[in-house]
Order: sequence, then C-alpha cells, then structure tokens
Amino acid sequence: EQVIKIGLLGLGTVGRGVYRILQENQDSIQKRVGVKLEVKKVLVRSLGKDRGINLPEGILTTNLADITQDPEIKIVVEVLGGINPTLDYVLEALNQGKSVVTANKDMIAEHGQRLFAAAQKNNCDLLFEASVAGGIPIIRTLKQSLAGNQIEEVFGIINGTTNYMLTKMTQDGSDFADVLQEAQAKGYAEADPTADVGGYDAARKIAILASIAFNSRVPLNQVYTEGITKITADDIAYAKELGYVIKLLGIAKDRPEGIEVRVHPTFIPQNHPLAAVGDVFNAVFVRGNAVGDTMFYGKGAGELPTASAVVADIMDAARDIIRNVPGIIGCTCFQTKPVLDIGE
Ligand code: NDP
Ligand code: HSE
Repeated sequence: EQVIKIGLLGLGTVGRGVYRILQENQDSIQKRVGVKLEVKKVLVRSLGKDRGINLPEGILTTNLADITQDPEIKIVVEVLGGINPTLDYVLEALNQGKSVVTANKDMIAEHGQRLFAAAQKNNCDLLFEASVAGGIPIIRTLKQSLAGNQIEEVFGIINGTTNYMLTKMTQDGSDFADVLQEAQAKGYAEADPTADVGGYDAARKIAILASIAFNSRVPLNQVYTEGITKITADDIAYAKELGYVIKLLGIAKDRPEGIEVRVHPTFIPQNHPLAAVGDVFNAVFVRGNAVGDTMFYGKGAGELPTASAVVADIMDAARDIIRNVPGIIGCTCFQTKPVLDIGE
C-alpha cells in the first residue's frame, strides 16, 4: 500500500480539525487521491497538554527537525500561525523539498513572494486555500475556475470573528467585550484578536485575494484598514432605524487608474444579500467580465470548516507528488498596476 506521510506544524483549533478529518474520512480521501495519507509527526509547544483527541504514542514533538529532516515526510502542513518563527520553519520545509500547505494569511500576505520563490526553486507546492474565508474555496476559484475572466471586483465579509460579533451585537445588543470572548472561546479569533477587531486580518485576506484576482502584488501596507473597535451600540441602533446593518467588508476593485483595496465597516441595506450573512459565515462576491456576478458563502472560521480547506490542499499536494509534478499552482503576483492611496 502506497502511503504519503505528512508532518503537521501545530495542533490547535485548525490542526486538530485537520487531524480529525484525515482520520475520520480516511477511506474516502484514500479513494479520491489514490494513496493513503498519514500524519507521521506533529509539532507543538507543549507535549503534556490535553488535546481532546486520541493520538498515537510518540506522534508529538517539539523538535522541527523531526519533521523537516525526515525524508519520509513529503507534505508539511503549517497551522501554527504568526510569522516568527513560522516563516523560518516553512522556508526550511520548502528548502528540504517538502510541499507546504498553510492557513496562515499573515505569512502569505507579508512574505508570499519569498515563499513562492522558495517553492518554485525547490519544485514544491505551496497551497493556502484556508488562508482566506475559512471553508469557502475562494482561492482555488479565483486561480482556476474563474481564471479565464478579467476580474473587475472582489468584495465581501472575510472575517468570521467580527461578523459573529456584529451579528450578536445587532440581534440582542450584546456587549463588544463579551462577544469577542465568545468568538475566542469558539476558536474563531486570532491568537491576538486585535488582528480581527482592528481589521488587519481582513486586510491580509483582501490583499491576498486582490493579488490573485488582479494578478498584481498588492502590498499589505497599501490596504486602507479600519476595524470595528469604534462601532458602538448607538451606531448599530442608528443603522437599524434607517434600514441598514453594519458589516466589516474587504473591498478590492480594478480601476483604470489603479487597484483600490480597503477594509472598513459599511452600512448595508437590510435587503442586500450580505445583510443576511450572520454568525461566523463569510460571503465573497466576485465580478468577472465573462461570468458576471458570482457569490460564495460558507463558514469563514472554526475547526472543521477551516480544516476542510486545508485537507483539500493536502490532497492536491499529494496528487502532484504522485504524478511527480509538484510546483506552484497559479499565483504569479507580478506588480503590474499601482495601488490607489485611499487616505483617511
Ligand atoms: P491555535 O492557537 O489554536 O493553535 C496553534 C498551534 O500551534 C498550537 O497547537 C501550538 O502548540 C502550536 N504552536 C504555536 N507556536 C508554536 C511554536 N513556536 N512551536 C511549536 N508549536 C507552536 O491556532 P489556530 O489553529 O486557530 O490557527 C492556526 C493558523 O490557522 C493561524 O495562522 C490562523 O490565522 C489560521 N486560521 C485559523 C482559523 C480559525 O478559525 N481558527 C481559520 C483560518 C485560518 P500548543 O498547542 O502546544 O500551544
Ligand atoms: N480569525 C479569523 C476570522 C480566522 O475570524 O475570520 C479565519 O481566518
């Protein structure tokens, strides 16, 4: 029986979901890929922690080399988060010839170019579907299914934590700090939730989407970013009175004079499809010059929805290894157009 071995970096919310899906759906995954996929080692910080899942003896390690130096491990799945030391770990994995799957939008948005270059140099896949909009397959859609279009705009709700918070604050007047705590307890928020409420997480995601959609590298520091920290119960009540709801949107448009990219709270009419996107759900609109308007909807964060996207990437990486064609799927991200200065 042919087996492709995987090294998992991280066993938190997403890592646990990836491990569970690979175990629970093992048979159907094997049938679809053609070989068995098996997690051989898992990197964590603390070996003693209760993980809430059954793990084989000795699978956990605190030593990266147990994964990157193991010739049997062909795919490394990075679900640690952050940039330090994660970027170095991922570069090490690529330089050792491992294909990498990541859910890390911070790292892709800020260091994508360097990582794609390392992947290309080492003939490895670098796949990142889970980095934007959790379980919604939006990266693959832009890179592949809509690749024949000139994409004119991409916009939507791309942060689950803030959508969860705004939904609860609108429905029952919940307090900002209380709903943030709930979102953290559910595993939706980033390790530092300032990234969610400050709009930075959405900014990273819209920078990634815009780069792919417009085939043009959109630097993170050129995304106008405003979060929801200044939204009060009065703002929400005022919006409601006027027939609107407040949503945090990421917006990217390809204009003749340059690319416009921004993240900010927006008044949405109550009868607009985005107004009905509640809880942790995300929704992304894409307008292409051939396809017209499309909309993608699903859970934007959480253990299994996010892991669903990670596992699909692992399966694609495995297929490429079997066919002996690992390499970058799609993203060239050349700087071809200026990004407009939106200002305050
Ligand atoms: P968690 O904080 O729940 O888990 C992080 C895991 O990584 C933990 O198991 C931790 O080990 C381990 N870890 C962190 N730093 C190190 C280190 N230096 N060395 C070894 N192990 C380390 O994070 P999430 O699972 O929520 O998120 C992971 C990634 O997925 C992030 O990039 C996040 O942005 C992204 N993401 C998350 C989503 C979500 O809904 N949570 C959705 C989409 C993307 P230990 O357990 O021992 O502490
Ligand atoms: N913290 C992120 C969110 C996780 O709430 O959307 C998914 O990327």
